[in-house]
Amino acid sequence: MLETGKRNDVAKQLIAGNWKLNLTVAEATGLAQSLATESEGLLHRCDLLVAPGFLTLEAVRSAVLGTGINVAAQNGYHEPKGAFTGEVSFAQLCDLGIQWVILGHSERRAVFGETDEVLAHKLKGALGCGMHPIFCVGESLEQRESGAASSVVTAQLAAALSGLTPDSAKNLVIAYEPVWAIGTGLTASPAQAAEMHALIREELSKRWGQETGQSVRLLYGGSVKAANAAELLGQANVDGVLVGGASLQAAEFLAIAAASCETR
Ligand code: 13P
Repeated sequence: MLETGKRNDVAKQLIAGNWKLNLTVAEATGLAQSLATESEGLLHRCDLLVAPGFLTLEAVRSAVLGTGINVAAQNGYHEPKGAFTGEVSFAQLCDLGIQWVILGHSERRAVFGETDEVLAHKLKGALGCGMHPIFCVGESLEQRESGAASSVVTAQLAAALSGLTPDSAKNLVIAYEPVWAIGTGLTASPAQAAEMHALIREELSKRWGQETGQSVRLLYGGSVKAANAAELLGQANVDGVLVGGASLQAAEFLAIAAASCETR
């Protein structure tokens, strides 16, 4: 196991903002424009990504076009088309020029009942389309308190990754988001984050070999803000962060990005 999070062979740290169900078209466009103009000095040192809602994807994509900021959907469906009322397919997202997608977020699992089985289909579908999925795993407070955090995360990973080839690794990002830290102001301690990231890294290496396992970017998510970003991003195997609430303000999000770059 490597000692630090600063692995030279891995791409830059990824600072990703999940805007969830927030922002009108005008607000999303304004935020994207602010990020586009104010991130210039950061993008040569870290990667930036934002995940707006479906209805603002196109406006945000246009606002950041040519800047290097990536845009992700927050969900997608594996069937390309057909009688699936209300769904948006990965094929449609790609058609719009969206190449990233968040999958398996705990809100999708808990509020919308997405199972490991459904998520495995989605992950395969997104990778099959050539997209870059950010696949989320994480335990609830009850699971952590009962000592089941590691087994829960390992099982979520196993369900998602079984059947995938090592080739999938080149587009895959995994986000560890402890459910108890999402939107609560509670953050995993740097040691807790490092411990879980090491476990995830080990699982990936066991499955696909050391070199491939090392190449997958691992993000931490859960109440990340400018004040705690540098410490979290300085941990071994933390290759970036997935930020919710704090990504809705350009200055705060960019301060997180700046903190990440300082650790490299
Ligand atoms: P918060 O940063 O608001 O805790 O949300 C984290 C998250 O769910 C990102 O996907």
